[in-house]
Amino acid sequence: MKTIIEPFRIKSVEPIHFNTPEYRKQALKDAFYNPFLLHSDDVMIDLLTDSGTSAMSSAQWAGIMTGDESYAGSPSYFRFEEAVREITKMPVVIPTHQGRAAEKILFSITGGPGKVFLSNTLFDTTRANIEFSGAEGKDLICEEGRHPAVPAPFKGNIDTAALERYIKTHGTSGIAMVIITVTNNSGGGQPVSMQNIRETAGICRIHGIPLYIDACRFAENCYFIKLRESGYKDKSIIEIANEMFSYADGCTMSAKKDAFANIGGFLALTDEELATRCRNLLVITEGFPTYGGLAGRDLEAIAIGLHEVMDEHYLEYRIRSIEYLT
Ligand SMILES: Cc1ncc(COP(=O)(O)O)c(C=O)c1O
Repeated sequence: MKTIIEPFRIKSVEPIHFNTPEYRKQALKDAFYNPFLLHSDDVMIDLLTDSGTSAMSSAQWAGIMTGDESYAGSPSYFRFEEAVREITKMPVVIPTHQGRAAEKILFSITGGPGKVFLSNTLFDTTRANIEFSGAEGKDLICEEGRHPAVPAPFKGNIDTAALERYIKTHGTSGIAMVIITVTNNSGGGQPVSMQNIRETAGICRIHGIPLYIDACRFAENCYFIKLRESGYKDKSIIEIANEMFSYADGCTMSAKKDAFANIGGFLALTDEELATRCRNLLVITEGFPTYGGLAGRDLEAIAIGLHEVMDEHYLEYRIRSIEYLT
């Protein structure tokens, strides 16, 4: 494999604590073999999660200093809103403290007993928020996605035939929405093809079912589309993202992923009436609509990170590092 260099310079480092295998064995035992209970000081190589693990860029740290902390109408919010709109083209942008807060707000309104949410695979917080509302979540992953050892380009796809069968058997009245998770994190971070998203959107449109995207790794998914799907080789990441989001009625996002931020998330929507209901809930749970659960500096860091994540040198480096590890 040809080695590529990291497309960044490292300006700041944080030393890790060295310990011994015996020490780590004892720490694991003391944590009842649950890595979530470990003290991170005891961990030398941390593979717990991909969440919040990216170093922020120098531009993001500069944004932290220039973030405006006004309670309402902060310019940092407007920069954040513009960055999300540029990618999703959705008119409504609602900041939240994490992805799960966006899910909680959306599903509190659209979920409830008797409702079902269909997906390629629901992430655990997504499923938990759906079930907490009294609704049910159903994963309809494609056949390739069920076989970890079998290579295929888009193993995160939803099984569109199974989706159609479900609609035919159960009707549409109980279906709250279809959610496509990109990339499919709980299914091994596998990508979803544009063709699959387009086909799913077509089915949803015919039956009047809303389609949402869980967008945590939207840029990575777009890069896989560029690499692996015919017709996208010469398109930029933002063009691919614009097309991907054009098929959806809304999206939820954890900014701890493809926005390189320490904290944050958002809900973006096309439906103004639903947006009003979401904002009303936001005010009593997260905060005023121009900060959600975030500080102005976080909004600034997310706005910058959303641009930076679409750099193809970064995406190439990210995908190649994983290839190298596997
Ligand atoms: C696909 C997916 N959806 C939602 C979430 C929830 O986001 P957060 O951790 O910001 O609440 C995550 C986080 O890992 C995720 O990977």
